[in-house]
Amino acid sequence: MADGFLIFMSLKNKHILLGITGGIAAYKCAHLVRLFLKEGAHVKIVMTKSAEDFVTAKTLSVLSKNEVVSDFFDKDDNWNNHVALAEWADSVVIAPLTANTLGKFAHGLCDNIVTACYLSARNKVFVAPAMDLDMYQHPTTKHNLDCLRKNGNIIIPAENGELASGLSGEGRMAEPETIIEYVKHFFINDLPLSGRKVLVNAGPTYEAIDPVRFVGNRSSGKMGVALADEFAKAGAQVTLILGPSHQRPTEKSVTMIAIESADEMLTQCLSIFDGIDIAILSAAVADYRPKDVATSKIKKSDESLILELVKTTDILATLGKKKKKQLLAGFALETDHVIEYAKEKIAKKNLDFIVANSASEAGSGFAVDTNRITIIDKHNKLYNFELKNKQEVAKDIVHFTLNYLKTHD
Ligand code: CTP
Repeated sequence: MADGFLIFMSLKNKHILLGITGGIAAYKCAHLVRLFLKEGAHVKIVMTKSAEDFVTAKTLSVLSKNEVVSDFFDKDDNWNNHVALAEWADSVVIAPLTANTLGKFAHGLCDNIVTACYLSARNKVFVAPAMDLDMYQHPTTKHNLDCLRKNGNIIIPAENGELASGLSGEGRMAEPETIIEYVKHFFINDLPLSGRKVLVNAGPTYEAIDPVRFVGNRSSGKMGVALADEFAKAGAQVTLILGPSHQRPTEKSVTMIAIESADEMLTQCLSIFDGIDIAILSAAVADYRPKDVATSKIKKSDESLILELVKTTDILATLGKKKKKQLLAGFALETDHVIEYAKEKIAKKNLDFIVANSASEAGSGFAVDTNRITIIDKHNKLYNFELKNKQEVAKDIVHFTLNYLKTHD
């Protein structure tokens, strides 16, 4: 197994033609260009003359590392081929889209380089309208946007907020981060786990003693949240069932369900497991919970307090019994005999593989940012990995899962 990891980015090497028209939101395009590049895309820019009043071509050219085109002819009178530009693009993004250019798009007018590229575009076109609130609500604007929608363009709706006019309402161009999400979502079908549904559970569980106290553990949830993010980046539709943790997924497509106890975690896992393709259970589920939960706060009276604990249901083993087509994997955190105990859990819980780590090794286990894992598959084959930060470990696990699917699907 290669120790390196793949980076999944739905915009990697995609060609984005950004068309900028003359609205104040044009200044946000500098940030938008940077975000596209960060996602691995290549960006070329066309802009109208009036857009140049709001953001300079020089700024955009430096950021995009490409010459910016704002006319049919360049300064030496050479023709700027709008057809070639549109053909180069895997996607055309018009941001901001003013009411004026929207009207032109809707009616096929073609009097500048942006409208010419729009009419020449063969691939998906995204538009991010930006105008004052009354203009955005005008029936003509709505009609024109409907026209674009019917032509197959994707409208990235304007947002609510303060407008350049001083008024407040709907009309602000969507934030660059939102525009990126729309375009990423469109290209996500090209990723290796597109169409696959993934369940990840993570974090500790809290088992109530009374309304204010609980039995819990020191799991931070970092490893599982990183896993949810990395599976989402690989195109999967991820549901993260998360115990009490401050960690949050950064990928917007991850559906997060917050729970407290092992029982709640079990109920949520069972409710979706049948429709799941891949389940990775990384949660540090409490093995025991108080037998009786006091309905009011237990008062301090005697010198000692005896709590009777009963076993919680083993979620992973329960899913292992129900498993049909699913790939099912778990984690094993051990202090000693790491590999031996982890191997026993594969058979006992009917797993495809287990991710083993040691709680007594420096840099591994709970509440640290790093982990050193060994993956053991159901044929007892061992795959060792270096000590890495948890995000990179998550990438390794996603990479391993992809290889496993290739050989076992
Ligand atoms: N697990 C679970 N439900 C439980 C306990 C554990 O789903 N009630 C899962 C964990 O999410 C993990 C795997 O089982 O993926 C192994 O957990 P671990 O705590 O290492 O082992 P246990 O099975 O609890 O056994 P032991 O604590 O005795 O090592």
